[in-house]
Amino acid sequence: MGKKSYLRSTEWFGKDDKMGFVHRSWLRNQGHPDHMFRGKPVIGICNTWSDLTPCNGHLREFAEIVKRGVYEAGGFPLEFPVMSLGETLMKPSTMLWRNLASMDVEETIRANPLDGIVLLTGCDKTTPSTLMGAASVNLPTIVVPGGPMLNGKFRGKDIGSGTATWQLSEGMKAGTVSREDLIEAETCMSRSAGHCMTMGTASTMATMVEALGLTLPGASAIPAVDSRKKVMAHLSGNRIVEMVNENMKMSDILTRKAFENAIRINSAVGGSTNFVIHLIALAGRIGVDVNLDDFDRLGSDMPLLLNLMPSGKYLMEDFYYAGGLPVIIDQLSKIIHSNALTVNGKTIGENCKGAACYNHDVITPLDKPLKEKAGIAVLKGNLCENGAVIKPSATSGKLLQHRGRAVVFENIEDYHTRIDNPDLDIDENCIMVLKGAGPVGYPGMPEVGNLELPEKLIKKGITDMVRISDARMSGTAYGTVVLHVSPESSVGGTLALVKTGDIIELNVEKRSLTLLVTEEELQKRRSVWTAPEPSTERGYVSMFVKHVEQADKGCDFDFLKGGSGSVVLRDLH
Ligand code: FES
Repeated sequence: MGKKSYLRSTEWFGKDDKMGFVHRSWLRNQGHPDHMFRGKPVIGICNTWSDLTPCNGHLREFAEIVKRGVYEAGGFPLEFPVMSLGETLMKPSTMLWRNLASMDVEETIRANPLDGIVLLTGCDKTTPSTLMGAASVNLPTIVVPGGPMLNGKFRGKDIGSGTATWQLSEGMKAGTVSREDLIEAETCMSRSAGHCMTMGTASTMATMVEALGLTLPGASAIPAVDSRKKVMAHLSGNRIVEMVNENMKMSDILTRKAFENAIRINSAVGGSTNFVIHLIALAGRIGVDVNLDDFDRLGSDMPLLLNLMPSGKYLMEDFYYAGGLPVIIDQLSKIIHSNALTVNGKTIGENCKGAACYNHDVITPLDKPLKEKAGIAVLKGNLCENGAVIKPSATSGKLLQHRGRAVVFENIEDYHTRIDNPDLDIDENCIMVLKGAGPVGYPGMPEVGNLELPEKLIKKGITDMVRISDARMSGTAYGTVVLHVSPESSVGGTLALVKTGDIIELNVEKRSLTLLVTEEELQKRRSVWTAPEPSTERGYVSMFVKHVEQADKGCDFDFLKGGSGSVVLRDLH
């Protein structure tokens, strides 16, 4: 951070030559006199609005509000669209395009006359993709999280996005939920603009950006339709102009301290396991060393302070009314780095000092947490040499130490074909193992790790079993689910060698996941194993499969690590 000597946009608009004429003249066709943008901070508003991303459907209006704030502060806003990733419509998984969207963001920012950036985000991947792209350019950047939907309301009770979907689906299998119930719930769950209102991945990502210091204080929990969200967007427009004037870059905020804070705070809110992958990828872009072991070392002993689904019972709207993230940050002030800088120029400790809690059932005191030691645990063992993760706070707690017989599904289609076959040899003590769902194998590492239990066991009243895979899991899901097994099965990880009938031992306390098969037998199996054929040899997917890294490294492309800064290598002539 330091005094800004020049505006980057001057390289476009400040020249008195032919290209200066071109840059200015074409912008005038929108009716802007040149004093609006010449010599003023030009602010790019990176908009993930799309009709195909319902969670971000309100962001077009929000861009206009940010623009008001930018104008008011003496800047000049230019909104631009980027690839938007809608969790509920894209097949087979938005994760397949997170890196592509990040490339869109990075290249658009660098190539254009922008001095500062506002990221408008919402649905799960729209946050990490835009952050990663912006980090590789490293201009002054602020995030406006789009905000959660209002609470779902179904027959007098609150229902939460995703979490209710899993519960209703299990109820259908158990025979306790009818088709009519399901249709009615469908009309009651998504009541307003905004993203999933459980502590799913979107809320986790919004919490993450606030914990990293990239939003104005308290921004993440405000519901999308609350007028205070619009005020926050306006103020963010004000602030980004000041940040440009102060030359406060993303790298000034995204320090090792900020990442450590985010890991601890994610544990205290019961955030999604997807947080691990996205945070590692973001750290890789800004050049901060964050590895899988950091999540266990810094986060696993943290208490759970937030009573939100899927780990608890409330929803994001309740969280906001209870005081939001500043309450949790203040409670953790002696545990986190309170002196970490945030985008408003103050430290995270200064921003949150004395934040009042208005509902202690939603946000519990530090000395009476909802659960002790609730952070994500990182497992190691011969079944996951490079690691795997589990979220103990979202499990039943009964199976965290368990030894069982493997029932193996070679891929997700195999699972769907056989899982409800009454003849499938499976009981509640078995361990369900899914292969072929990792970054390379699927490809795109979908959220299928929380495999639904067999119908015959659900009907018996069984609600949890151990499940292991190289997949991810929706942040709204729950269960004793071991995820992100690395190396994945399709690149020859030991997961590929598991056979039905093998015995597997999970011990979360000891952080171990062990396939109880002799090394001699594993060598025998490895010698006859062959990698599956790639699903395509052309286009983006082919590039994805060749360059995506494993889950423990954040699933970024190997050639995208780090950044290229904001300098444009060749001019437009
Ligand atoms: Fe968009 Fe959940 S589907 S946030």
